[in-house]
Order: sequence, then C-alpha cells, then structure tokens
Amino acid sequence: MQALILRIKDWEGKTGFEKAEVPEPVITKGDDVIIKVHYAGVCGTDKGIWYRQAFKNQILDSISAEKKPYRIIGHEFFGEVKKVGPKVKNLEPGDFVSCESHVVCNHCYQCLHGQKEVCTNEKILGISHDGGFAEYAMVPAHIVWKTDTSKIRPEVAAMQEPFGNAVHAASKVDVRGKTVAIFGLGPIGMFLTIVVKGLGAKSIIGIEPNPIAREMAGKSGIDYVIPLKPSQKNQPYEHDAEIIRELKNITEGVGFDVAFEMAGFNSSVNNTIAAVRRGGNVILFGFKNGQFVLDEDYNKLVMKGMTMHCVAGRQVWKTWETTRTLMEDASNGVQEKLFNIILNRGEGTILPISEYTKERFEDMMAKHPKFLIQF
Ligand SMILES: NC(=O)c1ccc[n+]([C@@H]2O[C@H](COP(=O)([O-])OP(=O)(O)OC[C@H]3O[C@@H](n4cnc5c(N)ncnc54)[C@H](O)[C@@H]3O)[C@@H](O)[C@H]2O)c1
Ligand SMILES: [Zn+2]
Ligand SMILES: [Zn+2]
Repeated sequence: MQALILRIKDWEGKTGFEKAEVPEPVITKGDDVIIKVHYAGVCGTDKGIWYRQAFKNQILDSISAEKKPYRIIGHEFFGEVKKVGPKVKNLEPGDFVSCESHVVCNHCYQCLHGQKEVCTNEKILGISHDGGFAEYAMVPAHIVWKTDTSKIRPEVAAMQEPFGNAVHAASKVDVRGKTVAIFGLGPIGMFLTIVVKGLGAKSIIGIEPNPIAREMAGKSGIDYVIPLKPSQKNQPYEHDAEIIRELKNITEGVGFDVAFEMAGFNSSVNNTIAAVRRGGNVILFGFKNGQFVLDEDYNKLVMKGMTMHCVAGRQVWKTWETTRTLMEDASNGVQEKLFNIILNRGEGTILPISEYTKERFEDMMAKHPKFLIQF
C-alpha cells in the first residue's frame, strides 16, 4: 500500500516525508482494527515533523524499540473499517470511523481515574505508533470512534480529532459572557473561535501574524484580529508591550477574562499571561520542546491571582461526544464553517495521494492552514 513515512536515516539533513510502498497491516492482536483511510488531516504537528522541529526522540526511539526502519505519519483521519480482530465486539467491517490519536494503556493511575488524556504510557498515532497517512491504518479498537456519515460529511469527519482539541480547551472554563483573547489562529485556534462563539462569549479577539489565517478567522466569527508583525513573532521570549497596550485598551484597561495560548511560542505565552485580567484564566494549549521563561515579576504574577490550565489532547470520550453533537447539529453552522471556510469547500485543500510530491505538499502547507490527503 502507499504511505507517507519517515525513516530513521532521514531525520538528519532532510525534510519532508517519503511516499513509499509498504506492506499492508496484518492483524496480530485480537483487539486490532484495520481501517481503509479515506481522508487524513495535516496539522501543525505534522509540519513540525516535516521540518524536523518536533518529536525527534518520540519518533526515533519508538521506531527503534519496534525494530522497524520507518514510521507511518498522520494522526487525524477518517475511513471505513475493513477488518477486525477476533476480540473486537463493538465494530464491524463497513463502519465509518475516526480515531482518538492517543493510544492509551487503560491501566495506569490516570486511565483508571477518568483522565486518559494524560495516560502515563500513551503512544501517539503518527509519532510513537504507526498512523493514518496510508491506504490502511491498524489501531486498537478502544481508540476507534464511530461516525454517522449521514450527519457529518467525510472531509469534516477527518477533523474531529483537532476540532476536539478546541472543544477540550474551551471546556476548561465557562466562557459565557466573557471577554476572550486567542493567541494563534492556526486551525485549532480557528476551531476554538467557532466553539467559543457558539458557547456565548461576549467578545473574541485574535492575535495572529499570518494574513491568510487572519482573513479566515474573520469569516469564522471572530470580532477583531490584531496582526502580529513578523519581528514581534520572533521575539525570544518577552511579551510584546505594543500588543498588550492595544489589548488593554480594547478591554478598557481591565484585561481579558480568558486568554488562550494556541501558538506554542515563549513570547506568545507571556503575551497570554500579560493580556489576562487579575483573577482571570490562562489556558495553555500550544507547545514546543524546551524551556520557556516567564517574563513578569514573579511576585506580581502570583498576586495576579489568575488560574492557569494546561490542555492535553481530548477527554475520552467526553470531548468526542461534545464534538459529535456540535458537528451533527445542522442548525448551529459549525459544519458549514468547517467545510466552507476552513477547507475552502475542498478547493485546493484536498491532495490525492497519487498527486503527492514534496513541492506540492509544501505549497499546500504554505497556502492552507488546514488540508487533507485523500487515499
Ligand atoms: N496540547 C495539545 O494537546 C496539542 C495538540 C495538538 C497541537 N498542539 C499545539 O497547539 C498549537 C496549535 O496547533 P495548530 O495545529 O493550530 O498549529 P499551527 O502551527 O498550524 O498554528 C499556530 C498559529 O500560530 C501563529 N503564530 C505564530 N507565532 C505566533 C505568535 N507569536 N503569537 C500568536 N500567534 C502566532 C501561526 O501563524 C499559526 O497560524 C501548536 O503549537 C501545536 O503544536 C497542542
Ligand atoms: Zn493534529
Ligand atoms: Zn494509561
């Protein structure tokens, strides 16, 4: 079968994924499920791997441990069940499905106490477990999520996993009637805008350097977007005094009730903390490897009395149930926004695997915050 893979030997000195012919998966464990992939989403995580900026150890160490020469990339996908292992009871060939991308252990302390999203022994599809950039993906049945294709179109169904990230982030605090700032309007920041708007936030302000993303966010229902200049984007770690002044003015000097960090840059984390009001809520979602520096006076930081939340993945299956409700409800406009705006009605945002080239993939990453590979 055709797959986009990364070989150990190609980590150093190269970028991109290799389109390769690899063996189709074969069921070896009773709870395995083989899925014919229809659409797979490309996101910031894949970009990080493409440019060798993230997940080096997780990928290389896990491939070595499995004693195989490559990893199949991809963790957001939708497809059809082809085969199930003898122990699988709740799925059968022909079911349309997506997957939770965290392959949890089901026996660590967190898994046993309702916090599977922070499983101690998790593997992640497309990073430490083979993923979905392939004609067929094999995963354990306990991470498979059935999808009703009469209510959710396949292209949108392929975005349940990252949309779920936004649903999880938005569920950390009650945003109803609140002033909200979102730092970083990549696909997940954009999804968050749609969710927070639907939940009834009083106002939503975005901060984003990329003009394509800013325009898209405008159509997704954000109230106002502040451009971040490229020079500001690359600040080593300090907050941006100019941006913070502008944000303070918008909130009449008070600061925001809730500020989400959805970009994963040190300076953006400090912007998020600086933008929130005393006693407000900071929600940290974006990430990057390495140490981050907090640039506020520590005394003032503590006495600000804010609450900081870290969001990992999605709550299994609570977040998925909310995601399904939001996507299936035709009256709320969520699915329309996801397909018409984020995916530009499929125009330029669907890459058939037969047309894959490194240049085309890079061009699509540059032009579209979100695009799908069709298998
Ligand atoms: N916590 C989790 O479970 C989890 C899961 C998936 C992804 N992530 C991380 O969340 C973040 C968002 O994911 P995504 O797929 O939307 O990523 P993305 O990289 O596609 O989007 C990030 C956006 O932030 C913008 N940006 C860059 N510098 C900025 C700055 N200084 N201030 C504000 N915006 C800035 C970029 O232009 C881009 O639009 C990434 O860091 C990703 O690695 C976290
Ligand atoms: Zn993703
Ligand atoms: Zn666990």
